[in-house]
Amino acid sequence: MDEKRATARIVKVNHAGEYGAIRIYRAQLWMARRFYPDLVPFLSDTLGHEIKHCALFRQAMPSRQTRPCRVMALWGNGGYVLGLITALCGRQGVWLCTAAVEATVHRHLEDQLQFLQNRDAELFNLIDSIQAEELSHLHHAEERIEATGLLAKTITWTITLSTEAVIWLSTWRDSSRMAKLLKPTV
Ligand SMILES: [Fe+2]
Ligand SMILES: [Fe+2]
Repeated sequence: MDEKRATARIVKVNHAGEYGAIRIYRAQLWMARRFYPDLVPFLSDTLGHEIKHCALFRQAMPSRQTRPCRVMALWGNGGYVLGLITALCGRQGVWLCTAAVEATVHRHLEDQLQFLQNRDAELFNLIDSIQAEELSHLHHAEERIEATGLLAKTITWTITLSTEAVIWLSTWRDSSRMAKLLKPTV
C-alpha cells in the first residue's frame, strides 16, 4: 500500500512539475520573441518537450489511482512569474533559471528511478526516457552561463530553494515514505 501511494505521488508531483516547466518556458518564450529572438528555437523546442512530458504523466495517472495535484494553479502561476522575472534579467537570467530548475529536476528524477527500479517498470522507463531530454535542457543552459558573480549565485540559489520548497510541500510525506522503503536496499 505504501509503495503504491509513493508511486502515485511520483506521477502526481512530476505532472505538476512539468506543468510548472511549461509555464516557465512559455513566459520566457513570450519575452524572447520580443527581445531575444536567438533564444526562440531552444525555448520553443524545450516547451514542446515539457508539453509532451506533462501529457505522458497525465496518461500514467488513472492506472495508478491518482489525479492532478490540487495546487496546479500554484505551480502554474509560480512558474509563469519565475519565467517572466528571469527573462527580464536578460539572456543570462534565462540560462541561470533553466540550469537551476533542470538540475533540481534531475536530482529528483535520479531518486525516483532508484525507487522505481524493481517496483514499476513502466514508470521507470517513462522517467528514464524523459530524463535524457531534461539533461539536454540542463547542458544547453550550463554551456551558455557566463555570469558567475554574487548576483548569479543568488539567482541560482533562490530558484533552487524555491523549486525544492514547492516539491517538498507537494511530497513531504511521500518523500520520507520513499526514503523509508528504500532503506533496506541501500
Ligand atoms: Fe520535463
Ligand atoms: Fe526540462
